[in-house]
Amino acid sequence: MFSTILMFVFSYLLGSLMPGFWIGKFFYHKDIRDEGSGNVGTTNSFRVLGTAAGIVTLALDLLKGTAAGLLPLLFNSNINPMLVGVAAIIGHTFSIWLKFKGGKAVATSAGILLAYNPYFFILAISVFILVLLLTSMVSMSAMISFSFAVCASLFYHDLVLTIVTIILTIFVFYRHRSNISRIKNGTESTVPFGLYNSI
Ligand code: G3P
Repeated sequence: MFSTILMFVFSYLLGSLMPGFWIGKFFYHKDIRDEGSGNVGTTNSFRVLGTAAGIVTLALDLLKGTAAGLLPLLFNSNINPMLVGVAAIIGHTFSIWLKFKGGKAVATSAGILLAYNPYFFILAISVFILVLLLTSMVSMSAMISFSFAVCASLFYHDLVLTIVTIILTIFVFYRHRSNISRIKNGTESTVPFGLYNSI
């Protein structure tokens, strides 16, 4: 029982780590919460700090989700990794280091899927890339690919996968409320590639 609680606490603390925020602080002397969208995640790291910082933030945000999903192995526990991953998403969204504020849960949720089922991860990422190429909007791509993942999970006959994917998708939509408003009024920021930006 104690080791199970410890595992969930570890997962929360892993999720709480905020690479985008710390890379900005320590290497660029910038608080990415004050620039761009104000989000502490991958997209705003690319936007505010540049490509190198964005790639490192993406990798670390993803890996912390994957690491959380692998905790049951480390703790020799038979608790489903997807459930343990939810604690990391709570950490990422309500980080102990950022006064219980945080990111939008996209890369970290993807990392959990990677730990649980790499094929499912590749499927979801493929949809993400396709939508990004069509719309040039990271937020739109995230919301559509997570919604797709919920539908795709139904084919796996894995109740935990479906339930946790629904929870992750709810987190993703909840954290993209401001993006949804911007998409509605046509002011959402776009990446400099993709079909949307070339027509
Ligand atoms: O990384 C989260 C992404 O979906 C949106 O980020 O900074 O454009 O609000 P941002």
